[in-house]
Amino acid sequence: MNDKILLIDDDVNILKMLAKVFQFEGYNVLTAENGKKGLELLTKQKDTGVVICDIKMPEMDGEKVLEQIRFRQPLIPVIMLTGFLELETAVNVMRNGAFDYITKPVDNDQLLAVVEKAFQQRNRMLEELRKKGQEEKMAALGRLTAGFAHNLNNPLSCIIAYAEFLKGKYPQEPRLSKIYSAGNKMYTIISSMLNKTRKEYHRNKEIINLNQILVEEVEFFDADLEFRHQVEKKWNLAKDLPEIEGIYADFSQCFSNLIKNAFDAMKGSANKMLGVNTGWDKHHIYVEISDSGCGIKKKDLPKLFEPFFTTKSGREGKSLKGTGLGLFSSYQLLKQYQAAFDVQSELGKGTTFRVSFPYTLAIKPAMAGAC
Ligand SMILES: Nc1ncnc2c1ncn2[C@@H]1O[C@H](COP(=O)(O)OP(=O)(O)O)[C@@H](O)[C@H]1O
Ligand SMILES: [Mg+2]
Repeated sequence: MNDKILLIDDDVNILKMLAKVFQFEGYNVLTAENGKKGLELLTKQKDTGVVICDIKMPEMDGEKVLEQIRFRQPLIPVIMLTGFLELETAVNVMRNGAFDYITKPVDNDQLLAVVEKAFQQRNRMLEELRKKGQEEKMAALGRLTAGFAHNLNNPLSCIIAYAEFLKGKYPQEPRLSKIYSAGNKMYTIISSMLNKTRKEYHRNKEIINLNQILVEEVEFFDADLEFRHQVEKKWNLAKDLPEIEGIYADFSQCFSNLIKNAFDAMKGSANKMLGVNTGWDKHHIYVEISDSGCGIKKKDLPKLFEPFFTTKSGREGKSLKGTGLGLFSSYQLLKQYQAAFDVQSELGKGTTFRVSFPYTLAIKPAMAGAC
């Protein structure tokens, strides 16, 4: 934790006294007896967490120091020390972005409590910025990947076109057909990946074909060779499944979490079978993801949708490491569609997760053969 405090006060006695108080509490303390020196110190010691600054000082007063800090390092909370009965000044500094003010003579406990709060706020802000930075990095990576995939399309179209041409010219050569169909398959994979990235990126409402999203999600997992070759897939998609309106990424992320959990649950199973079912009746439209994995203990069932509940500790020789956020976030994403989650599980045999939506969300029957 960054616990560096800068104290700025022209009264050397107060400076010494406060320095002692904060050092005693374990803070790392810097002192400056005027505003100019304080700002110089702040420029050099960029990891300073909180500034405490007197208002009445010769040359550069506290209000000017505050203005400079807000301008140069806006994330650092500044606590101002004001004289008794200087209410107007106090209001002014608060309006100009001070974190808080303390009246002199300083009550040490009150100052310590405010400093503690200032550090907490700063750490929260830094954490938010860090998360935002990560999200932006992920978005940039997504755009980059989409760009690569898009660039692959040109040479691939060329391979497919020549393979087709040569297939016609040398019909006796069966391997040309193989090149042609492998090229076409690659083209489909790239197109569906581009399509998916595009849809994940935009959070617009659109018509959702649940069957199609499930197919795309499983296709995505197919990039994992173990999933592709060792997991048998059993599809049972209702051809006339009604479509609903929603945001693509809400559904794709939820189904991806359920498929990932099913895959994880089957890591130790001899028979790995993933079932993907969809259906509807006059009350509901539903999706079911089932697996032939380890199953869920009865005592864990009520906790599945709690944030951070995970049995994938990564410890005791277990290679899987979970966050415990998959089901929680799936529920959060789909609750706006009044989704209900239902779990049937048998230890050692497998699990079925059913997500059902009220039929009232149906727009019209889905296009037959979308899957
Ligand atoms: N298909 C499944 N089979 C067995 N256990 C499951 C299954 N899906 C979820 N679970 C249990 O629910 C817990 C929470 O799942 P989730 O919220 O996705 O978090 P994580 O996968 O990160 O652990 C898992 O750790 C696991 O114990
Ligand atoms: Mg999970």
